Amino acid sequence: MINAKIIKTFWDKLESQSKPPKYVKKISIIEFDKIKNSINSKNEFIIKNLAKRMYDGEAFILRNAAKKNLKKTIIDLAKYYDKKQKPSFHKMLDGTPNFHRIIDKKITKKYSLYAIKHSYFFYNWNVKTKLEKKLKSGVYRHWRYVKFLAGNNKFQYEKNIPSQNQIDRLQIVNYPHGGGELRDHVDPRKNQRIVSGLIMSKKGVDFEKGGFYFRDKNKKKLNIENNLEIGDSVIFYGSIVHGVEPVDKNKKLNWNSYKGRWFIGMFVNDSNHVKNRTTAKDLTNSTNFKKKAS
Ligand SMILES: [Fe+2]
Repeated sequence: MINAKIIKTFWDKLESQSKPPKYVKKISIIEFDKIKNSINSKNEFIIKNLAKRMYDGEAFILRNAAKKNLKKTIIDLAKYYDKKQKPSFHKMLDGTPNFHRIIDKKITKKYSLYAIKHSYFFYNWNVKTKLEKKLKSGVYRHWRYVKFLAGNNKFQYEKNIPSQNQIDRLQIVNYPHGGGELRDHVDPRKNQRIVSGLIMSKKGVDFEKGGFYFRDKNKKKLNIENNLEIGDSVIFYGSIVHGVEPVDKNKKLNWNSYKGRWFIGMFVNDSNHVKNRTTAKDLTNSTNFKKKAS
C-alpha cells in the first residue's frame, strides 16, 4: 500500500543518485483528474513514474486543476483587499495578517528576487470571509495532491502557524500590463520539491505578450504560455530555472487596472521564526544567464 513515506523515500533515493535538473527537458499535458485518481487509487507505479520524470526535468501542465471561476474569486479578493487596506508588508510571525503589496522597481530591491507585480498574501489562520474560504478550497483541491506527489502528506503543513517553522502561504499575483515580470530563478526544495501554481488568465485575451517560461538546455527561454488555459496548473521540480517574461511591455503600467496576467502561487515557506531561511534564488546576475535588456 503506497503512502507518503514511500514516496518520500523514493524522492530521497532519486536525489541521492543524480544532480537535480537545471533545465526543462520536456513539457507534457495531463488532466488533473488523472493524477488525482492515480493518487486516490494508490497507483504506486504511476506516482513513482511521475516523480522520476519530474526529477529528470519534465514539467507537467495539469489541465483543470482549478475551476475556471476561481479567477473571479481572486480578482474580487484583490479588489476587496485594495479597498480594505493600504499596501504593506508583514513578516511571517505568529498572528501575521493577510496583506498586499505593490512590488515596483523600487520595492523589488528589498527582495532576493527581481519581480514587478502586485501580490496578495493569504494564510490559513486568517480564513474568515466567504471569498477567503473559496480561495482556500479552490487551491487545496489541487495542492493536497501536489504535496502528496512531492513526498509530503496531503495535509502536511496546512494547519501550521509560523512558530512551527513551516507554513503554507497562498499568493494571488497580478503581473500588470506595462512590464509585470519575474526574472530567472530557482525555488527552494527543502519543504516541497515540486513547485506548482494555478494559471488564472489567458494569453491573447488578458494579455498579448510575455508570460511563463522555463530555460531549456540551450539556456533559451521556452515560453509555454500559448499552451496554458485558465484553471491549469504547472508543476515541476524546483531546481529548473523559470520566470515570467514582461507582460505587454509596450502598454502603460497602471497599478489600478486589474488587467494583465493573474496567477495563484502556493508555497510552503520557512517562517521568520527560522534562522537562515531558504528563499528563492535569483539567477539574473549569474554568469550563466546574461541579463536581457529590459
Ligand atoms: Fe518560482
